[in-house]
Amino acid sequence: MKLFIDTANLEQIKKAHSYGVLDGVTTNPTLLSREGSEPIDQLKKIVEVVKGPVSAEVTSLEKEGMVKEAKELAKIASNIVIKVPCTTEGLATTKELSLAGIKTNLTLCFSASQALLVAKAGATFVSPFVGRLDDISAEGMDLVADIKTIYNNFGIDTEIIVASIRHPIHFLEAARIGADIATVPFAVIEKLMKHPLTDIGIKRFLADWDKLKKKLDQE
Ligand code: E4P
Repeated sequence: MKLFIDTANLEQIKKAHSYGVLDGVTTNPTLLSREGSEPIDQLKKIVEVVKGPVSAEVTSLEKEGMVKEAKELAKIASNIVIKVPCTTEGLATTKELSLAGIKTNLTLCFSASQALLVAKAGATFVSPFVGRLDDISAEGMDLVADIKTIYNNFGIDTEIIVASIRHPIHFLEAARIGADIATVPFAVIEKLMKHPLTDIGIKRFLADWDKLKKKLDQE
């Protein structure tokens, strides 16, 4: 499973990239607004660090506006992927962008029927939002499993990005289902490698090592 980071924060992106396991980035208007800088400038800085797919979202609601924005965003770099919402206007936009060779990430996906239609329109990626479904007492991961089954049934190659991940279990379940990608906030990426027994083990090994060195020094 590929690992994307879900942030527009450059320091977090650089740090996650330095771990050597980062495959891409997803941003959205909320994440970019948190950074406070001009969005295009911020995206330019991000694509300098990460060579894999970097998602940037359109904010228009109608096809004409979305396509126009998408074409501007796509000029930033060849690895920019256009995030388009799962609406009927988004479908038409996806079809047009796919014919123009522009990659898309269909965002705010909350049903398997949306996921099937966006794939038919030529979506490169689809992003089911598991955390936001869990928030309303629905099983977010059931949606991912449904999409996976449907895509397998028809040999669909749209890649599933599990989004709105809130904790390490979401990441693990995404891998169990066989999702293509998980897009994970920085704090959760850090938690994926954290284990108390690892920390305790390191502490004990180092204490024993020090003991041995002291003993040898005294001899
Ligand atoms: C994905 O592409 C979105 O940016 C993101 O996962 C949304 O997560 P949230 O529901 O925590 O805002």
